[in-house]
This record gives sequence, C-alpha cells and structure tokens, in this order.
Amino acid sequence: MNYKKIETLLKEMLPERRLKHSLNVSECAVKLSEIYNCDKEKAAIAGLIHDCAKYFTDEQIEDCVKKFDIDLDPLEVNNIALSHSVIGAHVAREVFNIDDEEILNAIKYHTTGRENMSLLEKIIYMADLIEEGRNFPSVEELRELTYSGKLEEALILSFNNTIKFVIDNNQLIHPRTVKARNYILGNGIIHSSN
Ligand SMILES: [Fe+2]
Ligand SMILES: [Fe+2]
Repeated sequence: MNYKKIETLLKEMLPERRLKHSLNVSECAVKLSEIYNCDKEKAAIAGLIHDCAKYFTDEQIEDCVKKFDIDLDPLEVNNIALSHSVIGAHVAREVFNIDDEEILNAIKYHTTGRENMSLLEKIIYMADLIEEGRNFPSVEELRELTYSGKLEEALILSFNNTIKFVIDNNQLIHPRTVKARNYILGNGIIHSSN
C-alpha cells in the first residue's frame, strides 16, 4: 500500500491530532534517515503507521488479539499505552499489507525499545519523541543529540527519563526498556559517564 493510501485509511482510524503526529513522525524519520543513512521510504512508512492501533476500543483489541493470534505479555494486557505498538505491527501487516520485517519491528518496538535495536527501530523510537509537535522538558536536549549524530546518547537519555518516570510514579517498568538501555551501555556503544 502506498503512502497516500495509508494516510487516507489512517484518517478513519485516528483523531486529527494523532494523524498530524504520525505525519510529523514520518517526516522526522525521513530527516533522521538522511543523517544516519537509513532507508528513507521504510522510515516514512513506519513513522506514518506506528500509532495506527492507539485508538482501538477494548473490543477491537480483543478482536485483533484473537484474529492475529497476538501474544501480549502481562504488562501489555489491558494497557493500550504499551499494547498499541505490538498490535499496530500486526495491523500494519494485515490491514496495510506491509510485509517488510524491519518496518514491522520498528512499529512493534516504538514504545519500549528492545535489546539490539536496528537502525530503523532507533530512528522511529526517537522520531516519535522529537517530532516538531512534541513539547516536554527534555525534548530540546533529545533533538540536539539526535540531530547531531548522537543517536545512542539520545536513546539512553530517553530510556533513563522513562525509567525515572515510572519509578517516580510507582509504575511497572517494561523489561524491554531496561534491556534496551543495558544493551547500549553494556556494549560500550557509549560510556555510562556521558
Ligand atoms: Fe505510540
Ligand atoms: Fe507516536
């Protein structure tokens, strides 16, 4: 399915504000692909589709889980903030006819990250946070790192922020985020003192 067709379908699935966010993520992901030498077309499509399941009703989620045989983990069950990425990857395959595993994984892991992320996964993860419509305390710092070739530093800062936030709010931490963080730090991709 081409970009325009996907955008038209998404208009039926997302409120206007979320569609705008999706278009912004797509555009940002293309810019980052130029900087980091990633496939621009894949980045554009993954960015556009990434939140397609964000506004599913409980019933729609239940239907998808059954129909596509989705295995949600205990943290994802009844938690659309986490499950929309996993479900979104299945919707991307079944509804938008995306069969590229790199695009599907970038959608699947855009909320938590994971161990050993691909370049496209990292780009979509960061584009989701720093697209031009985003506004939160550390967004400028994240933009600066991401646009200046320091993608791993940006990811670590973002994982740290997420982990601190869930601790401060006494929420559960998704283990994939911890693993994503440890993988980058533990492999010396950047130094922990940075
Ligand atoms: Fe999302
Ligand atoms: Fe998003």
